[in-house]
Amino acid sequence: MNGRRVLLGVTGGIAAYKAAALASRLVQAGAVLDVVMTADAERFVGAATFAALARRPVHTSAWERVHEIPHIALARECEVVAIVPATANTIAKLALGIADDLLTNVVLASRAPLVIAPAMNTAMLEHEATRTNLAVLRARGAIIVDPEVGFLAEREHGAGRLAGEDALVAAIGGALRRTRDLAGERVLITAGPTREPIDPVRFLSNAASGTQGIELAREALARGAEVELVLGPTPLEPPAGARTTRVVTARDMDAAVRERARGVTIAIATAAVADWRPATTHEHKVKKTDDPQALALERNPDVLANLGASKDGLFLVGFAAETQALEANAREKLERKHLDAIAVNDVTGERGFGGVPNALVLLWGSDGRKDLGSGSKRELAARLWDAIVELKSAR
Ligand code: CTP
Repeated sequence: MNGRRVLLGVTGGIAAYKAAALASRLVQAGAVLDVVMTADAERFVGAATFAALARRPVHTSAWERVHEIPHIALARECEVVAIVPATANTIAKLALGIADDLLTNVVLASRAPLVIAPAMNTAMLEHEATRTNLAVLRARGAIIVDPEVGFLAEREHGAGRLAGEDALVAAIGGALRRTRDLAGERVLITAGPTREPIDPVRFLSNAASGTQGIELAREALARGAEVELVLGPTPLEPPAGARTTRVVTARDMDAAVRERARGVTIAIATAAVADWRPATTHEHKVKKTDDPQALALERNPDVLANLGASKDGLFLVGFAAETQALEANAREKLERKHLDAIAVNDVTGERGFGGVPNALVLLWGSDGRKDLGSGSKRELAARLWDAIVELKSAR
């Protein structure tokens, strides 16, 4: 953590006293610590404790030096925001985007990864409101360090005790590492469906939305990569910062990928490319009186297989959308398309498409396998990048 900027947010729970020990650990690990305390936190621990540990002023109010606009400066300078302990109240405010004190303003203004360590009474932790709020924050990409079961201030035994110091340090260290682990990499991502025109108003396509590829692009940018995104038709907005090429057909996508592939070190193909296109595209709208009897199709290029055929050091990751014999089918694609890894997506029923939760398993080599679990596509993007970084460095 040497020289890395950590913003420690302390909110008003009894576990606030433990945040002082954590602050000391972070400082000993070399972190440069900015501490922001809520008014309730100050009822439990004095700001002087944190100021002495961090050897920097502690921030307690959005009004202390208004001319410096402290929340914006703090939000910009920090590389990670860690809220330890996080009360049910602060968690609720963060889930809604309420900014009514310095800490919630900083979080709203910051693009840094967010680590949240809840600590509270068991009933409050298990309340549906808190559980929903934590799920919202987790789906948005926050790293939640789950509380432990143990002795609570109420002299009861239960869930809600602040996570141990080692787990907190590991979560903050992991978040910091992730902000740089793709620095120097040039990443190319294909995403979305393709559309294969039958006539000016009709086309063949599929249910892909491009969400997973867009989330992978966003995450790669956050980790310091340069990102080329080749995106099929979707109403979704690509992340600012990615160089995006919009395409319509599979042939457009193949051409754009060939053009953009130079210098790329990691490519991930999430696009649901149409395997076939109509053999002829009618210049004018086909009338129903024309009564077409059949639609003749021809094969589209395989964008991913083409990348695999000339990969030259490129780390290549495919996706396999399957409804049966998931892993066997995916391993066959891994080999046939010369991939370094393949993410298997179960698309039975509603799963896999659009904004609904997803589940992925990553396969590589002859028997490499990692279950990435289920979650929002944003969470899975982070876990997939963690796995790719690890695989690539072991190569
Ligand atoms: N892919 C591609 N170009 C195609 C077809 C697929 O780039 N014309 C990529 C997808 O982006 C994905 C992977 O190949 O990363 C697997 O796609 P999938 O459709 O599941 O596999 P196919 O090779 O088309 O095999 P099948 O249709 O038999 O399942």
